Amino acid sequence: MNLEDHLGDIIRKAATMNHVSAAAAANAAGISENELAALEETGSSAKKINFAALGKILGLNPQKLEGIANGWLPAKKDLSIWREIRPFTTTGENFSVNCYLVWDEVTRDAALFDTGLDAKPILETIAAEQLSLRHIFITHSHYDHVEVLPRIREASPKARVHSGSKHAPVDQRNKVAEIIHLGGLRITHRDTPGHAEDGVTYLVGNWQEDAPSIAIVGDTIFAGTMGNGNGAWDLAKEKVREQILSLPPETLVCPGHGPLTSVGEEKEHNPFF
Ligand SMILES: [Fe+2]
Repeated sequence: MNLEDHLGDIIRKAATMNHVSAAAAANAAGISENELAALEETGSSAKKINFAALGKILGLNPQKLEGIANGWLPAKKDLSIWREIRPFTTTGENFSVNCYLVWDEVTRDAALFDTGLDAKPILETIAAEQLSLRHIFITHSHYDHVEVLPRIREASPKARVHSGSKHAPVDQRNKVAEIIHLGGLRITHRDTPGHAEDGVTYLVGNWQEDAPSIAIVGDTIFAGTMGNGNGAWDLAKEKVREQILSLPPETLVCPGHGPLTSVGEEKEHNPFF
């Protein structure tokens, strides 16, 4: 799976975040404005880029930015050490979105994190694996993450919905310091607003064989990049730093778009941090 953002997307995001004009960014990069526009569009540049100056003006780490330009990807994850987690990627027009089904191997109690755009593969897995869907956790209420929630709830009416939205019915709102037990697994949450006002990161821990905890982060951070700050860039970055990058490096990071990654890899390679 490609990164959610290519080099050009990252440059565009960082320029918006830091109110840097195209002229200033092009000047720092050592290319023309037209060449910058082409780079933002395609993600690559025929001309050599001055990453040191461009990173500086955009508030991006130059070495990490150059790493992205050179094709960095997070290491492919062997999910068999977690019993069990299953990612689903569903596709809309020009984009795809991830959701995740997690279950306790022994009790078969399951939790779904976001729904994506298609209920079918999720419901098929629940049936094939003979799971009971107990909980549905919403990372944020942007439509691509919750599109088929009604369909899933119809199929599993007893599943409890969890959300960070203050517009959600009271019994669906996350409670401070609440711990949800899913068989032997433990699920907690951390508020991570910024990309979305109701952004939440869920942590699943206490796995068999000491497998690392997993963080289901929605659109707060993606492998090598981050979610659109939607006008709250500082808050978005602060929450990633404070609530996600502070987790142990081996923590598996499961984002709403793009490939799986880990806290350690993001600290080392994500140019926004
Ligand atoms: Fe989103």
